[in-house]
Amino acid sequence: MNDKKFYITTPIYYPSGKLHIGHAYCTVATDAMARYKRLCGYDVMFLTGTDEHGQKIEDKAKEAGVTPQQFVDGIVAAPGGVLDLWKLMNISYDRFIRTTDGYHVASIQKIFRQMYENGDIYKGAYKGKYCKPCESFWTESQLVDGKCPDCGREVVDAEEEAYFFRASKYADRVRDLLLNTDFLEPKSRVHEMVNNFIDCEGGLQDLCVSRTSFTWGVPVDFDPGHVVYVWLDALFNYMTALGYQNDKYNDLDKFWPADVHFVGKEIVRFHAIYWPAFLMSLDLPLPKKVYGHGWLNFNGDKMSKSKGNVVDPYLLSERYGVDALRFFVLRTFPFGSDGNFTNELLIQTINNDLANDLGNLVSRTTAMAEKYFDGKLPAGRQSAGLDQELMGMAVSLRDRYEEQMEKFQFQNALEEVFKVIQRANKYIDENAPWALAKDLAANGERLAAVLYNLLETVRICTVLLTPFMPDSCGKIFAQIGAGEAARTWDSARHFGILPEDVQVHKGENLFPRIDMAKELAELEAIQEAAKKAALPAIEIEPQLEEKVDFDTFCKSDFRAVKVKACENVKKSDKLLKFTLDDGTGTDRQILSGIAKWYKPEELIGKTLVAIVNLPPRKMMGQESQGMLISAVHTEKGEEKLHLLMVDGAIPAGAKLC
Ligand code: MSP
Repeated sequence: MNDKKFYITTPIYYPSGKLHIGHAYCTVATDAMARYKRLCGYDVMFLTGTDEHGQKIEDKAKEAGVTPQQFVDGIVAAPGGVLDLWKLMNISYDRFIRTTDGYHVASIQKIFRQMYENGDIYKGAYKGKYCKPCESFWTESQLVDGKCPDCGREVVDAEEEAYFFRASKYADRVRDLLLNTDFLEPKSRVHEMVNNFIDCEGGLQDLCVSRTSFTWGVPVDFDPGHVVYVWLDALFNYMTALGYQNDKYNDLDKFWPADVHFVGKEIVRFHAIYWPAFLMSLDLPLPKKVYGHGWLNFNGDKMSKSKGNVVDPYLLSERYGVDALRFFVLRTFPFGSDGNFTNELLIQTINNDLANDLGNLVSRTTAMAEKYFDGKLPAGRQSAGLDQELMGMAVSLRDRYEEQMEKFQFQNALEEVFKVIQRANKYIDENAPWALAKDLAANGERLAAVLYNLLETVRICTVLLTPFMPDSCGKIFAQIGAGEAARTWDSARHFGILPEDVQVHKGENLFPRIDMAKELAELEAIQEAAKKAALPAIEIEPQLEEKVDFDTFCKSDFRAVKVKACENVKKSDKLLKFTLDDGTGTDRQILSGIAKWYKPEELIGKTLVAIVNLPPRKMMGQESQGMLISAVHTEKGEEKLHLLMVDGAIPAGAKLC
């Protein structure tokens, strides 16, 4: 039996039509961690899933004209949905929970009842503010500019009979947990939690844990009409998925308490305050750690569908490969802080780390083994002083890497690996294998040793890169002739694992260099188009609140006017000059800024509408005697204009009223 166990979770996701790279960030990190622990020999449980109840889902289902269950069933497995994205990103979860799964629902009912019976849940009345997108309750004083302090969106008034959880009873224990243990990391998040939610004015408030104004949730079985608050329902997924209060699974003894919950910074509050308090109420062991990671922004701005600035993992994976994307987000940004995703940084990282450093090392090493020895290194080696430094760095790498991985410092762990890769590239230049190859009879053994040392260094680095880039690392192992025994955690601490006469197979170039300027231009064009597509189809100016009295309106003299001539105004790219028959017998000249939408010749002979009693006005040195009337609106962010044209049967000069 393996007594090394590791239980890690991601947040369970609200089912949404299309997820972006920010959503994938946490799950990719969790996946890298789970793969790393498996590599180290742990029996790993990696749990993820979907959080499917709540008012937001009920509203969306109503909009779509389907039941909430139909709505979530459709969306969880839809292209671009949660399951699809995890498949794309090569996420190796062991279990997937949906909060609508029958066993979970029944477990939540038991949990709620137990907390009610032990006196920690009581009935009261809720009056305050509610943010639907975040499914969060707020007091008036917590709002920022009257909006939700987490997401900045509108909140609504909520007033209803509700059950409350006695969070206040656990304030001291939770404060102690946060301040005096390593329960919450990074440490920078601890004081924010304690100051804002426990040691704030009024102290830690009891939490409203049921709703009556909608029905899409776990019903409180002893009080019909109430559904369990979505966060209580959701947080317990971490235990029901192991079999807590159900017979579906039987892994609780094995895996609870969890080793770590990875969560985004905006939901640390639920995981670091209410989650331990719920568990304390039921006298259950607490998870060992909650790690609140930062957010990925895009070009300095929060990613949001409505802003059209989300980074599409499908698009980027198709262009650069899933592994490059997984690698980029964990190599570039410290996990505990916010990171600014830019296309430039992505391409730079791929070019520098993957193409120049790793890709080059692998392709130069394997190409030389093929060129000089037909891929099979001859046995017999000669060591030289230069080898010691490289070998020393390579065999000690695993310890340095492990130290960082255990702290979830993925960026630093990768930095350690790349220092060795860079050292190995320098070793090639120092040893100049191409010079040794000029006289194989004299230098063959030394050349074989140089190439062998390089292959071993590549092998050790590849073992440690596997959690980040599983597919690419598999390909590198195949190229350098590393069998199963040469891919293990244990083997990463030893030099000399590959057979002396290892067989190398130079394969495809795994990380081709990207032409930065060309690629940036293409990505920008694609992302611009996506931004445009996210804009509302049609936008119309709101109607004016202010009323005009009828007499004032009647003072405007609208007439049908027929276009006799029309031309562009010289030196203006906006203005057209119209010569109009207005029924008076004298031509009327009107200038109109519509050249963007009409060519002069297409308007000749048309009957338009003009207001004719505006005072004359000079434009570009020419007089305009009135104004043509048009209809305007915005379509996908672009201004559209249509001149008002009337039936040609209406005589020029007819009054419109
Ligand atoms: N359903 C809750 C979690 C319940 S856990 C018991 C939820 N779901 S979510 O779909 O809105 O978010 C899932 C995760 O995605 C959260 O950890 C959130 O922080 C993360 N991210 C969403 N956008 C993000 C970025 N732009 N960057 C990094 N992570 C972000 O919250």
